[in-house]
Amino acid sequence: MQSTIDFINQKIGNIKPEIGIILGSGLGDFAQGFPSVCIPYSEIPGFETSTVQGHAGQLVFTQPHASLSSHLSPLTSHLVMMQGRYHFYEGHSMEKVVYPVKVMKKLGVKTLIITNAAGAVNPGFKPADLMLITDHINFMGTNPLIGENDEALGTRFPDMSEVYKKKLIDLAQKSAEELELEVRKGVYAACSGPSYETPAEIRMLKTMGADAVGMSTVPEAIVANYCGMDVLGISCISNYAAGIQEKPLSHQEVIEVTNIAKDKFKSLILKIIEQI
Ligand code: HPA
Repeated sequence: MQSTIDFINQKIGNIKPEIGIILGSGLGDFAQGFPSVCIPYSEIPGFETSTVQGHAGQLVFTQPHASLSSHLSPLTSHLVMMQGRYHFYEGHSMEKVVYPVKVMKKLGVKTLIITNAAGAVNPGFKPADLMLITDHINFMGTNPLIGENDEALGTRFPDMSEVYKKKLIDLAQKSAEELELEVRKGVYAACSGPSYETPAEIRMLKTMGADAVGMSTVPEAIVANYCGMDVLGISCISNYAAGIQEKPLSHQEVIEVTNIAKDKFKSLILKIIEQI
């Protein structure tokens, strides 16, 4: 861990990120256009290479007082963005999947915004909707905290009763209202993938109380909460889950729909980070 932190610090100089953003499938463009320092995962000691289409695979740190040309006010906080994440289904161990979250914590990140593309389990949701995650169901069959506990990071049996901080959900809701954007709220269920779910699995998840389903976010959210970070989760609904829509699911569809939603996603995130 220390070699990772030393390597990054030597690249970013006086940048002190307080907000981290994990950019999900098709949402990586958000990091484009900021004056920034980019470090490919392949160069960072301890990081693996991301293999999924739609995930660039780099850390992007915004420069002090960075602003987007399309957005006049400069950022008040420094950001670190993960343009692409590690998924359990790629064959990475849970330890590798959550390693960047622990790195962000050590770099000083206090608030983590986790984003993803997800299938709608709630029949009232539709593709290109944004959903604020209020809670999750870990259906991945494992937990990223299994193994020896590092007491310096967090306690052995961490409380998970408010993983997604109410104050951040309220702030995100208020930001959406200011932008006149409609956002949904709901429970995100994580399955390991990489196969999409069957219609029977989706019916089960619906009965269990899930509104959306995906293959990420939950391991990162568990670890971020465990080590004391405030988490906000945002899903971009990219498709109706299996059995709800007639046509077969495809990753291409996920990328295309997130592309449609990316402008509202971008303005919402900018509005939120202005106020954190
Ligand atoms: N299921 C699981 N993961 C997903 C989906 C889905 O329908 N859409 C995007 N990621």
